[in-house]
Amino acid sequence: MRSQDTPRKIIIDADPGQDDAVAILLALASQEIQVLGVTTVAGNVQLALTEKNARKICELAGKTETKVFAGASCPLVRPLVTAEEWHGEAGLGGPTLPEPLMPLQKLHAVDFIVQALMNEDPGTVSLCLLGPLTNMALALIREPLISSRIDQIVLMGGGFFTGGNVTPAAEFNIYVDPHAADIVFRSGVPIVVMPLDATNKVLTTRERVAAFRRLGTKVGTATADMLELFERSDTGRRFGEGGPLHDPCVIAYLIKPELFAGREVNVSIETVSDLTMGMTVADWWSVTDRPKNAIVISEADADGVFALLVERLERL
Ligand code: BDR
Ligand code: CA
Repeated sequence: MRSQDTPRKIIIDADPGQDDAVAILLALASQEIQVLGVTTVAGNVQLALTEKNARKICELAGKTETKVFAGASCPLVRPLVTAEEWHGEAGLGGPTLPEPLMPLQKLHAVDFIVQALMNEDPGTVSLCLLGPLTNMALALIREPLISSRIDQIVLMGGGFFTGGNVTPAAEFNIYVDPHAADIVFRSGVPIVVMPLDATNKVLTTRERVAAFRRLGTKVGTATADMLELFERSDTGRRFGEGGPLHDPCVIAYLIKPELFAGREVNVSIETVSDLTMGMTVADWWSVTDRPKNAIVISEADADGVFALLVERLERL
């Protein structure tokens, strides 16, 4: 078991993506967290871009010692769906960041996840999943023993009372690889779900984005540039001022869980119906005997999340 004063060991699995990028920056800036590695997956953009974007962000943070791994280039069963309209053609629209010099690790992301979990003490490593769940599902298939060694999975995905953002029923990360999500939610690993119900409340208003620019640092300026573009792709369409800042909520939850509230229920994934493919179905009222497998977050303190982000990103 982890003692309270030692940093929490995490693996971040992501598809950067501007909000993934800000989540990685928050983790790299936070003393409560030790990032064992950043694994990447195809999602917002193709894998060749997500792995490169992860390295760009580690370099922006000045953390070139971070290990970055490339994983699955497409979902388990369905063809890849990407989200350039939200994140820009190359995934990190907004700032112009230099081509990364730090290396991509040779090991496949799935092998890294398995090795890290088998080598570290049981119950000491958490998985932060910020993209489609393909790598996590493949790791669970490759070495089922890892399921009892994971401390917890905290993932951004799903939409419950709020519906979806890609189809009326489904949120992007689950929609892209519903079969992988089904494997993860059936794995028995304790899961915290950060769905759209919570993240749609964490909006990049102009004032909040301006606070990053006021830092006057490379990281602050790049973050403001990313979030301004991210905002433009959502604003007006759905939320008035600002777009939802999804993935950083996962890291914020690990650092300050008191900023969030939710409830433990069973969550199952739709993998058959064309109409509702990728829907996250919560047994909110225990009308089945399906086991409770996830804490679903529904409330987020948006001011608290942005205050934490600004405080931590200032350190980089
Ligand atoms: C999720 O989809 C992606 O576009 C974001 O990075 C986030 O992980 C939100 O639905
Ligand atoms: Ca993401």
